[in-house]
Amino acid sequence: MSAPFLCQQLKMSKLSIRDLYLKGKRVFLRVDFNVPLDDGKVADDTRIRAVLPTLALAREKEARVVLASHLGRPKAEREESFSLRPVALHLAALLGQEVGFTGETVGPAVEQAVDRLGQGEILLLENLRFHSGETKNTREFGEQLSRLADEYVNDAFGAAHRAHASIVGVPAILGRGAAGLLMERELDYLSRVLTSPQKPIVAIFGGAKISDKIDVIENFLNFADTILLGGGMAFTFFRARGWSTGNSIVEEDKVSVARELLQKAQQKGVKVLLPRDNIMARELRAGIETRIEKNGIAEGWMGLDIGPRAIREFRNEIARAKTIIWNGPLGVFEVEDYSRGTLEVARAIAAADALSVVGGGDSVSAVMKAGVQDRISHISTGGGASLEFLAGKKLPGVEVLTDK
Ligand code: 3PG
Repeated sequence: MSAPFLCQQLKMSKLSIRDLYLKGKRVFLRVDFNVPLDDGKVADDTRIRAVLPTLALAREKEARVVLASHLGRPKAEREESFSLRPVALHLAALLGQEVGFTGETVGPAVEQAVDRLGQGEILLLENLRFHSGETKNTREFGEQLSRLADEYVNDAFGAAHRAHASIVGVPAILGRGAAGLLMERELDYLSRVLTSPQKPIVAIFGGAKISDKIDVIENFLNFADTILLGGGMAFTFFRARGWSTGNSIVEEDKVSVARELLQKAQQKGVKVLLPRDNIMARELRAGIETRIEKNGIAEGWMGLDIGPRAIREFRNEIARAKTIIWNGPLGVFEVEDYSRGTLEVARAIAAADALSVVGGGDSVSAVMKAGVQDRISHISTGGGASLEFLAGKKLPGVEVLTDK
């Protein structure tokens, strides 16, 4: 997809919660509370906090708020470990206000609880994915959800790439849907990267698998100046370039795609930098012998982080950038021995005088670990959704919202 086509699509602006009269209305607010739980407690509440401005506005407008989210990918109808109850408790503590929780997602008991909701009060439904109609986007489940609402607002940017009942079914049935404040912010920053980026544009892609990143790299070849590649997926590009990979992970069936991407980059004059040196170990374990190797990975070793020369080169590119987008760690950063490259890149992005957008759970964690979250222009709450958006794909959850 070419960049000019994208520009036209993204100029469309969507109805916003700010435009709605909500006094006394039941608002179905779809959020992405798909957060990690540890021992029955919320382990990272970034996605919950990100929705607080929308909740504050809904309460200011005296709406009766029906919150709905998925959590994980439960297989059965009801699995306690996927219940949203801990999230309701966490949200109540954050707000200092009671948050109702019915323990069910739809049905007469939920409808009665919604009827009893007062203005400014909040009720969280049980996990939408306890009903197969959610992911299958059945009309029946969409209608059951729609019975709980007068207005629809979507603030679940992280799930906007899913054509599920609560994402596309409900607004279609109700006849209109508005964006929440988080959704607006996400679309605003991500659109700016695609439609009016200041040059030079530097994109940094990492993570384990190239398959997740092919489309986004392909799209960035249309307008980026430099693409920096690291993480496990870089080794598939090493192979495509004829560099040695040792025991590093290589997606054999993607080597030809990597070769094509490198050729396209050359034709389009986009600079693609692979790490010129790497931190290697004989296995993925902390506290064992490591070595720095230039130009590839030695036989019997695996690459686990980018090396000091690569950090310097990447830092130089980042420092010159006016627009930076980052998705995916440059090494196995959750193990301290292999975290330096990722953390240095996070710090370099924070220090740059540029519009910076970071997406994807691991890169966001790295930004937090480096303590630089306040110096990043926008930290996206969407992993898959931000990648699809940046790849130039239409997100069903955005498409369905009402145009202004
Ligand atoms: C995410 O965590 O990326 C979103 O909540 C979507 O979750 P899903 O990949 O299970 O649909």
